[in-house]
Amino acid sequence: MDKLERYIEQLREDFTSGAFSEKEANENPFSQFHQWLQQAVDAKVTEVQAMLLSTVSQDNKPSSRIVYLREFENNQFWFYTNYNSRKAQNLQSNPNASLTFFWSELERQIRIEGTIQRATAEQSDAYFNSRPYESKIGAWASNQSHLLKSREDLEEKINQLQKQFTPETIKRPEHWGGFVLTANYYEFWQGRQSRLHDRISYELKNNEWNISRMFP
Ligand SMILES: Cc1cc2nc3c(=O)[nH]c(=O)nc-3n(C[C@H](O)[C@H](O)[C@H](O)COP(=O)(O)O)c2cc1C
Repeated sequence: MDKLERYIEQLREDFTSGAFSEKEANENPFSQFHQWLQQAVDAKVTEVQAMLLSTVSQDNKPSSRIVYLREFENNQFWFYTNYNSRKAQNLQSNPNASLTFFWSELERQIRIEGTIQRATAEQSDAYFNSRPYESKIGAWASNQSHLLKSREDLEEKINQLQKQFTPETIKRPEHWGGFVLTANYYEFWQGRQSRLHDRISYELKNNEWNISRMFP
């Protein structure tokens, strides 16, 4: 075993900073999410809006990648991406997906599951229009998840697009926009000592959220 493998093998992070119980859990999981997100923002967690999005392909192969949470409201969570990307192709054939946040500074993980649909064109336009010019050009230039011959090819494409579109004229391309996940399951995880973590889940059944505790 080399030094790096030994180092990784012996790492033992013990979680000691908090606890989470059914008694403290808000009866509404979205309010609970809101509260933990606020605490993460207050604690200046790095990349607090980064979440792992997991999708499943038509032939049942899972894949995951980080995307940024951009809006959230009433059990709905929005992110923006390319509609021809691998994740978008997955979501077209299977709308079930999950989002995972890990805020190491607070020793917390939140898992959210649900179904995803496209955001409205108005919403995607509004978000696109709020982005810096360079990001707008990037959305036009990137054929996300498809093969790119070289970095130079991408830069050449960007140069051409900068001549084609000014900051005043650039509009959202049709292949780019938002998705929104509507949650039907949440799990709030608080790290505890000796791996005896707290896990509180919320499952939506007959329009009601059922709260349970799970073994760690
Ligand atoms: C911190 C971070 C934030 C990211 N945010 C986004 C995002 O909001 N939208 C997006 O399409 N890709 C984002 N990405 C890139 C994705 O992880 C991924 O590489 C890309 O979306 C292609 O994924 P796909 O081929 O599975 O569709 C982000 C990556 C990182 C590391």
